[in-house]
Amino acid sequence: MTTISIASYRLPRVPTGAPAPPAGQLDADASPEEVVVAYHERTKHHFQRYAASLGCMDWATQPDPFRRYPGADVVRLLLPKPGHPLPYWQLYALGDVPSEPLSLESISLFFRYALSLTAWKRFHETTWSLRANPSSGNLHPTEGYAVLPAIERLGDAPAVYHYAPKEHALERRAIFDAQAWSELCAPFPEGSFLVGLSSVHWREAWKYGERAFRYCQHDAGHALATLRIAAAALGWGLVLLDGMSDSAIAGLFGLSRGDDYGTAEREEPELLALVTPGLPLTSPELLNGLTAGSIGAQWCGRANALSPEHRVEWPVIDEVAQATRRSENAPITEDFSRFPTEEALFGIPVRHGLLTAEKAILGRRSAVAMDGATAISREAFFRTLARLMPTRDGRSMPWDAIPWRPRIHLGLFVHRVEGVPRGLYALARDPDRLAALKDVMRREFRWQRLPSCPPGLPLYLLQEGDCRALAATVSCGQGIAGDGAFSLGMIADYMDSLTTYGAAFYRNLFWEAGMVGQVLYLEAEETGIRSTGIGCYFDDPVHEAFGITSREWQSFYHFTVGGLVEDTRLSTLPAYDFEEPR
Ligand SMILES: Cc1cc2nc3c(=O)[nH]c(=O)nc-3n(C[C@H](O)[C@H](O)[C@H](O)COP(=O)(O)O)c2cc1C
Repeated sequence: MTTISIASYRLPRVPTGAPAPPAGQLDADASPEEVVVAYHERTKHHFQRYAASLGCMDWATQPDPFRRYPGADVVRLLLPKPGHPLPYWQLYALGDVPSEPLSLESISLFFRYALSLTAWKRFHETTWSLRANPSSGNLHPTEGYAVLPAIERLGDAPAVYHYAPKEHALERRAIFDAQAWSELCAPFPEGSFLVGLSSVHWREAWKYGERAFRYCQHDAGHALATLRIAAAALGWGLVLLDGMSDSAIAGLFGLSRGDDYGTAEREEPELLALVTPGLPLTSPELLNGLTAGSIGAQWCGRANALSPEHRVEWPVIDEVAQATRRSENAPITEDFSRFPTEEALFGIPVRHGLLTAEKAILGRRSAVAMDGATAISREAFFRTLARLMPTRDGRSMPWDAIPWRPRIHLGLFVHRVEGVPRGLYALARDPDRLAALKDVMRREFRWQRLPSCPPGLPLYLLQEGDCRALAATVSCGQGIAGDGAFSLGMIADYMDSLTTYGAAFYRNLFWEAGMVGQVLYLEAEETGIRSTGIGCYFDDPVHEAFGITSREWQSFYHFTVGGLVEDTRLSTLPAYDFEEPR
């Protein structure tokens, strides 16, 4: 068996606490696209130097993982009894799941599956919580919001709520004028509501410095997927309102209310989505004319400060955030008619499985180490990859939540899949970009179909060989990338996306990558193995591994999937004291 390596790069020699790269200041009149490209280049990890960060942990300023709005009324969400019996596979069989009526209980289950705590971990005297949504460094920069109509025992007027995961509660930030709100929501079906996400950049920047903006966006993408998946478990649709401006989102959730923050860390508006009973709406109307004033909002609560002080600032994060803010524009509509059908993707559509949806969602965990031994079946491998593809009818979950054609493709390092040769592979998630991928990757690659692969799955063997060391090397030397069944780099159709949709789409690329990651997490649970998101990878060496020399395509995220090594030193406690031990 040949070993695949990248001869032109030496093995990592990365000093800890590396000095910041030169400032690389741009002209004041640089375009938003130029700011994005400069930020992306500047925040690459290189073998010789990591992206700029403090280089040590400043424990005295460690941010509080829980944002609260003291002064706002708190509604405790009763924890639904465990055992919602929906099989995991049914999450993806849309239309099969009966739609739950909107109630305190169904909203509680929605947030439970999307953003709640799922465990506390303890090691000696230290405890920390884990959530349904993963997060880089477990720092959780993502905050969740909802605008809900009047619901019995929740509130008797439409209101905007902030989700408090530690308490599994909703904080009522504002009450809206019922008439104004119902006029605004008139285009949506009865029983619809809005959810949204924001990021506290500081939470990630505290540890990761300049690269933190990327991680905030990954985390938002993971959370967008957990929201979509939670909605699917309740028989609801969820679709991103991608044409809404960031200022409208900030106004809706009160993020632009300076006085409510004082010196507390601000939140960056990320996205707004519409939840509907039944299947998601295609091309929903935007909330035209939405301003804080137009809905007669009365606000309460003031944000808590997360750190006592910030001893270091990362201005490039503010610059890239500014450059990627979106103004209101026409929603994206794209044609999926050349995408595969469910039958072509899976062979026989999956209608059985191991787990309930609840077990997969609440049991999801990152592997800290992998065993270097577990192999998965070819069927599980193909099924997992097929779940990452939108289908022709636009109804595959969670891809029905976003309107653009895939811009994230996979470069895979396959180590241990029964009946599948080891080596480098590519998954062209948009079959129409196959030619472009072939064009940009190494000329010598084979682009060979596997005889056993379902006909609709655009998976190609590029080069056979042992790529375990290579995978670990390009993932910042992390053993988990070589010790799993397979790992992968997410290759973004980068410059073309920025040119087509504008600089704000830089965020969408990370969101899409995060969504891919969330599906991989759940599919690993269903297969009886584990996976882990890998935000620490050496950008250009990944490109080199696949022979990509053009700056037009960029690596956006890594992932590994395989058999886990349990850390027996840790004990696990229930997420909430009012929860039965699982
Ligand atoms: C964007 C992102 C990047 C991550 N990067 C890494 C990484 O480079 N190495 C690693 O071991 N884990 C990584 N993780 C896994 C997190 O450490 C993990 O999600 C977090 O500790 C919470 O644990 P949980 O996923 O079990 O809830 C990453 C997760 C995310 C979402």
